[in-house]
Amino acid sequence: MPFIDLRSDTVTLPTEEMREAIASTELGDDVFGEDPSVNRLQEEAARRLGKEAGLLVTSGTQGNLVSLLAQTRPGEEAIVEADSHIYNNESAGMTRVAGLIPRPLPGFYGAITGRQVEEALRPVNVHFPRTSVVCLENTHNSAGGTITSVEQTEEVAAVAREHGLKLHVDGARIFNAAVALGVSAADLAKEVDSLTFCLSKGLCCPVGSVVVGSEEFIDEARRARKVLGGGMRQAGVIAAAGLVALDRMVDRLAEDHKNARLLAEGIARLGAVDIDLKSVQTNIVIFDVARLGMTAPKFAGMLEGRGLKVTTKGPTRVRCVTHHGIEAQHIEESLEILKGVLGV
Ligand SMILES: Cc1ncc(COP(=O)(O)O)c(C=O)c1O
Repeated sequence: MPFIDLRSDTVTLPTEEMREAIASTELGDDVFGEDPSVNRLQEEAARRLGKEAGLLVTSGTQGNLVSLLAQTRPGEEAIVEADSHIYNNESAGMTRVAGLIPRPLPGFYGAITGRQVEEALRPVNVHFPRTSVVCLENTHNSAGGTITSVEQTEEVAAVAREHGLKLHVDGARIFNAAVALGVSAADLAKEVDSLTFCLSKGLCCPVGSVVVGSEEFIDEARRARKVLGGGMRQAGVIAAAGLVALDRMVDRLAEDHKNARLLAEGIARLGAVDIDLKSVQTNIVIFDVARLGMTAPKFAGMLEGRGLKVTTKGPTRVRCVTHHGIEAQHIEESLEILKGVLGV
């Protein structure tokens, strides 16, 4: 049975153009800095994010980790959002590998404020860990693909700068935020020290993420990447798709956002589950099935039985993600499947 797969934008496959670029791109040994395709991708990523330099890494998780390794020392504290990916979904890498102690702060639609950061700062005292980095997530996955605006980012950046902290953005889906806001990704990255974004989510690449920041930071990040075994050789096969993605796949994210909206409004109209339409800002739709007296995994299993794949977030929340290959007609079909399961 063919499925409609709304589990994640990571299920996207490379486009024909990407496959052709992968097959024909120029290659070299990137650990020697000699892969022309990787070099071009890193330059282009840095340009798009308004930074001095970029570094291709294997994944969003690796991008976050090298960013932390490059800017902190073991035993220091990292301020994170309580539901963030870096804190909850990266196998505690920040602690196991970078030796950091996380300080989770509750966000509002995924965003934390400068004031929260200020209030979380510890006085200088031999008993306390030194706080050295603040991490934001834009868009915020668990909050429903919610956006941290330029102003919100700049407010946190100002506090971070005032107190000598680094500001890292897990921008796995930063281009979703930029497209939805109608600003450039560089606007969102302007005041941040490091940012990692994923090529392998809505941008459809088979693999890869890029970290951007100052040249000095990228030199350290490259060393950290080597520590993690992320120094790849003819990585131009990855970069080739990334270059197509940056050129061709960014603006079309608006279609994913439109389809997510269509789905969310359709779900709200069914009236049988709880959905916060304010949280639907990009390509993620989260709804809660608690009032059905059913768990999210059970509900997801029933959807899958009728041909719709989704993921769950916690005991009662269900997540759907729109992406390349999902058209309005798939959303209509998904809503019919939901209706069938809900009996409405
Ligand atoms: C917000 C966010 N950050 C980081 C990651 C990690 O990316 P990867 O799966 O490439 O390690 C994800 C993956 O879903 C994510 O959603």
